[in-house]
Amino acid sequence: MKLKQIVQATMAMTALMAVGTQVQAAEVEVLHYWTSGGEAKSVAELKKMMEAKGVAWKDFAVAGGGGENAMTALKARVIAGSAPTAAQIKGPSIQEWGKEGVLANIDAAALEGKWDANLPKVVSNIMKYQGHYVAAPVNVHRVNWLWVNPDVLKKAGAKTPGNWEEFFDAADKIKKAGMIAIAHGGQPWQDATVFESVALGVGGADFYKKAIVQLDPASLTGPTMIKTFDTLAKIKTYIDKDAAGRDWNLATAMVINGKAGMQFMGDWAKGEFTAAGKVAGKDFLCLSAPGTDKAFTFNIDSLTMFKVKDEQQKSQLTLASAVMSPEFQEVFNLNKGSIPARAGVSRAKFDSCAIKSMDDMEATSKSGGLVPSFAHGMAIDSAKAGAIQDVIAKFMNSSMTSQAAVQALAKAAKAK
Ligand code: GAL
Repeated sequence: MKLKQIVQATMAMTALMAVGTQVQAAEVEVLHYWTSGGEAKSVAELKKMMEAKGVAWKDFAVAGGGGENAMTALKARVIAGSAPTAAQIKGPSIQEWGKEGVLANIDAAALEGKWDANLPKVVSNIMKYQGHYVAAPVNVHRVNWLWVNPDVLKKAGAKTPGNWEEFFDAADKIKKAGMIAIAHGGQPWQDATVFESVALGVGGADFYKKAIVQLDPASLTGPTMIKTFDTLAKIKTYIDKDAAGRDWNLATAMVINGKAGMQFMGDWAKGEFTAAGKVAGKDFLCLSAPGTDKAFTFNIDSLTMFKVKDEQQKSQLTLASAVMSPEFQEVFNLNKGSIPARAGVSRAKFDSCAIKSMDDMEATSKSGGLVPSFAHGMAIDSAKAGAIQDVIAKFMNSSMTSQAAVQALAKAAKAK
């Protein structure tokens, strides 16, 4: 069932139901999927901050990277007439929920905290529905990273890869040395994460925008997209046979402990390195995925606010203000691997990967290289994103040709 139908059915049902499971006043219930080591540490900071403000934290954590399970749980709760206070919903999906009339207006918090002045437009636009704030941004994750264990490179006699040729050369050497070249978890959202970095690295930001954001049929089926799938097919040959279903953080752990050499993943992976006590630039390297150093795929986490009873509105606004506070944005993102979404947060405590991310975001926002992550729900609506993700997963798990994949991709891009 589509979101629209679900919500319509829900509204009808809720009208008939007594609202039994609502949270108490001075309590917030927050749905998220931050359950890995680094993520749990990050979210614990928000809980602590809310409790210090006298607001109880009701955790609604649903495991499953990329959030698919969490979104299913959210829909079920909305159907049951008991939406949480806030949920980690991102990008165009915020508009989809906004259209259903279930989101809360948090302009009061935004006005008080001068959000318009403190957020880049690319962030604030996403947080608003029809000109009003309905979501609070938590961070900016960069997706087009390659995480590398330098010891593995050294053992294999490989050099740090700066382009596709060097990347495959390093992968060959790591494989020959008896280690796993590419740590990967065979889950559709992880496949899509690798795919978008490959598309960006093979075709550049303009191609990415035309093909993946604007869904231009000629770009979706043209030679650059064929080359993208050819490259993906080659990458497949460096992934170990146990990858199916593996969680992303377990793949990151393989890089951390030297079982594998490299992983394509957004910088929530850095949260795992940090939680394991590893140091950026020494124990691990954060490289832009091959061919993507002039681009930045952004993924902005945000807590989207649902309509709550009058007595809970105060706690909801407290949550929104806490999320946007410089104190929270600093401590959360130090743990999460991401960078603050707002201006006015000191860079002092951030590591070299985060500083690179901050600088690159600024530079690419001027050069046109700043692009929304498709794999993380920032680029296109959820129906199309889901259909495209299915094609990529099928390609990763079968002997589908690149030619067949691009045709399927163009068809999926029309999904409604
Ligand atoms: C992303 C999300 C991150 C992280 C990751 C793994 O979509 O933005 O915050 O949770 O998935 O689940």
